[in-house]
Amino acid sequence: MIFSSIDFNEDEPIYLQIENYIKNMINNNMVVANGKLPATRELSRILGVSRNSIITAYENLEDEGVVYTVKGKGTFISPSKSKTEEGWQISWNDKVNNYGKLALELDIVKSEIPWEKNLISFKSISPDGELFDMEEFKKAFLNRISIEGHKLLNYGYAKGYKPLMEYLLEYMKSKGVDIEGKDIIITNGFTEGLEMLCEAYTSPGDKIICENPTHNTSIKIMKVHGIEVVGVKMNEDGIDILELEEKLKDNKIKFGYLIPSYHNPTGIVLKGEKRFEVYNLFKKYNVPIIEDGFNEELLYNSTHVSPIAALDKGGSGVVYIGSFSKILFPGIRVGWLLADKEVINILESVKRCKNIHTSFLDQGILYEYLRSGAFEKQIKKVRKSYKERYEFALKCINKYVNPKFIWGEGGLHIYIGIEGITGRELLNRCYKKGVIFTPGDVFSMDNAGDYTLRLGLSRLSLKEIEKGIKIIGEELKN
Ligand SMILES: Cc1ncc(COP(=O)(O)O)c(C=O)c1O
Repeated sequence: MIFSSIDFNEDEPIYLQIENYIKNMINNNMVVANGKLPATRELSRILGVSRNSIITAYENLEDEGVVYTVKGKGTFISPSKSKTEEGWQISWNDKVNNYGKLALELDIVKSEIPWEKNLISFKSISPDGELFDMEEFKKAFLNRISIEGHKLLNYGYAKGYKPLMEYLLEYMKSKGVDIEGKDIIITNGFTEGLEMLCEAYTSPGDKIICENPTHNTSIKIMKVHGIEVVGVKMNEDGIDILELEEKLKDNKIKFGYLIPSYHNPTGIVLKGEKRFEVYNLFKKYNVPIIEDGFNEELLYNSTHVSPIAALDKGGSGVVYIGSFSKILFPGIRVGWLLADKEVINILESVKRCKNIHTSFLDQGILYEYLRSGAFEKQIKKVRKSYKERYEFALKCINKYVNPKFIWGEGGLHIYIGIEGITGRELLNRCYKKGVIFTPGDVFSMDNAGDYTLRLGLSRLSLKEIEKGIKIIGEELKN
């Protein structure tokens, strides 16, 4: 309470002026209910008036119910006497712009059936937290903080924490990517990388080609930027080459967005030769590729396939976005974007407009974790665990479901096609029996995914997988 601002006059008694001052403060909502008033001795010293004037003012206010006293504790503002006036109302919904409206409309976290206790949920493709090596993580935290000290808690650089950037450049080299003429920026996951590219390189009405179906968040990001998402159908071996060429011929295509390994939602891995064919088509029509390599480390059925970025030796046609969300920890929100130096120069400035930089503490711990060799150990461990769930789920699907097709060869999920009933109708039936999954329609720009569903396996036990798939099979037959 700002008692120092009382300007006493000589016409009224001091105690009355103090009383009125306190009432005024209450009427103007400048004090909170149950807020403590200064002790009488203290206030008399602050205001330079007799303690008796303060005591009289407090007693009169208490008689009126404006304040109350608690023996041994002091005098407080009565709740009923504060905040008398109505707040100021703004109709925020009338002010929201198209970006905000679309973000809300396309936010499937709000519109889809949420997770509830006792449901068997095949919705998630997040990693299984029980597999995280917390001891290694704690060690990485302590080591890095003792090496860097307060530096990790201060402002850092927009492009990222240098040791992590250098580590990732080497990592990309080990994937066969020629990094000559390229640079890297650390992002808040894949999502921010794609968002920054859309912000800096697209305008409303631009077109981006992608696999149909594709990652729902990517569709959302493109749409909120007013981009026309041009889907190309998927076959069992990946994107349809003939349709892709047809659509690339439309020379107004700005980018291609592709997920060549463990594609979400289909799980398909584009084989080496076809990768080359796809790369050459984009090159022929001079359309840059945004390659999403989000979980290519999780291979367990085929031998390693190089990213498309590795085919572009000495070129600048591919922007590669990687992420630690599936292969390590989504909560630290660290991804990276490797591209031509000119692109990174622009994105560095875009990043400063958005959030200045990705948390240096998180980047520092992650770097230490990677450097220590814990990363390789973790990858081996999760591959083994997810492979077991994947193979078991395949057996269960074949035993209980009899789907039209099963696509994919690993990663964290299985994509299946069904007949006679849409994925969404099946979901509504299964929900009543305690099982949920993601219906294929959320991954599609048209009705291509209507008769499909994605089963995320990474956070379920074998027992839950079998029980859930059995229920899906039963509901499909009903
Ligand atoms: C295709 C695809 N790319 C990237 C990601 C990861 O995004 P982020 O790194 O922002 O967590 C996901 C997560 O589900 C995904 O499905």
